[in-house]
Amino acid sequence: MNQTIREQFAMLRKRPGYTYLDSGASSLTPDSVVKVMDEYYLEYRANIHRGMYPDSEYASTQYENVRTIVANFFGCTPHEIFFTFGATHGLNMLAYGLEHIIEKDDVIVLSELEHHANIVPWQQVARRTGAILRVIPVDKETYELDGNFEKYIDEKVKIVSVAQVSNVLGTIQSITRLSQCAHSVGALMIVDASQSVAHMPSNVRELQCDFLVCSGHKMYGPTGTGIVYGSQEALEKLRPSMFGGDMIETVEFTESTWADIPYRFEAGTPNVGGIIGLGEAITYIQSIGWNAIEQHEKEMTEKLLSVISPYARIIGPSHSARRTGVVSFVIDQIHPHDIAGFLGERKVAIRAGHHCAMPLMRSCDLMQGTARATVGIYTTEEDVMHLDSALKELQTTFG
Ligand code: ALA
Repeated sequence: MNQTIREQFAMLRKRPGYTYLDSGASSLTPDSVVKVMDEYYLEYRANIHRGMYPDSEYASTQYENVRTIVANFFGCTPHEIFFTFGATHGLNMLAYGLEHIIEKDDVIVLSELEHHANIVPWQQVARRTGAILRVIPVDKETYELDGNFEKYIDEKVKIVSVAQVSNVLGTIQSITRLSQCAHSVGALMIVDASQSVAHMPSNVRELQCDFLVCSGHKMYGPTGTGIVYGSQEALEKLRPSMFGGDMIETVEFTESTWADIPYRFEAGTPNVGGIIGLGEAITYIQSIGWNAIEQHEKEMTEKLLSVISPYARIIGPSHSARRTGVVSFVIDQIHPHDIAGFLGERKVAIRAGHHCAMPLMRSCDLMQGTARATVGIYTTEEDVMHLDSALKELQTTFG
């Protein structure tokens, strides 16, 4: 399957021998996505929701079609979806827009494995309101979250915000159980799905979450695009935090009223071409299908784990059943940046560093960070073998 898929990505087709194992940071983009963005820029470029002329109307239709594509993808209605410039933007909008429900001594629950984008906005809310951040710890043996959620989620909790998949450990969290726990005390459940949406189904009704946030560029779409799902009820609680054109109903100098949900959350001209590309990226994922994606990525993850293990300590579960294809590792005496630099010179692209998860790094005593290889839809056995030879060479060179 993946040789055919590789042909659909110019970055791989035009660079034989290139091993891209950094899809966790940003995935590559298939030609079909670039094509629809080109069509927008070259054939019907116009602003949306404003022009009474054919190109603008067509651009508006294409943009709004993506809302429907996304809604089908997440199992919700189009009115429960709004577009952002990325997951960080989405999480900031939720933090600002929900601040009014948080009072002094209220609690916001996060987990120890969160990305900075799901820590810092809440930390700032806590600072402004006098609320407290409570953190569900990660077991350092199993790399699982403490599953005894009831211990952390009590009547003081207003918000629980957790990543579906860790961008460092690759672990998959029990989101449905967390949602049920959050709801039992009347708290809102937010899911950062940045590392999951391209690798497993994220049906919001099954997850039972109130909000879900992700970036387009990790799901084979363009950079500068993102999605927020909010249930109708949750979106009614969310206040706009970006103001300007297109999100209003009426404006006076002293007062304004807002457009309907979800348009009140899309101030200004959005990334029209990018959102059209994002719709195509989702159509692309759907055309391959979850069974094929999950089976292939599980196989590649197993291979990656067995190739890396002899050279390095894996930071995360060692078996693919409990994880996705985000594989962090450390090698004694070699800095993760040196590993990534060495592999990069051999045409193997991986990420190294703290992965925007400094609290997790600190608690795992990994302040130098880790090296991290991640699997994508296009990863082949040859990629894994290429990584193996590069790691062998690294071992010989560094002794
Ligand atoms: N959050 C992205 C990563 O984990 C950039 O690499």
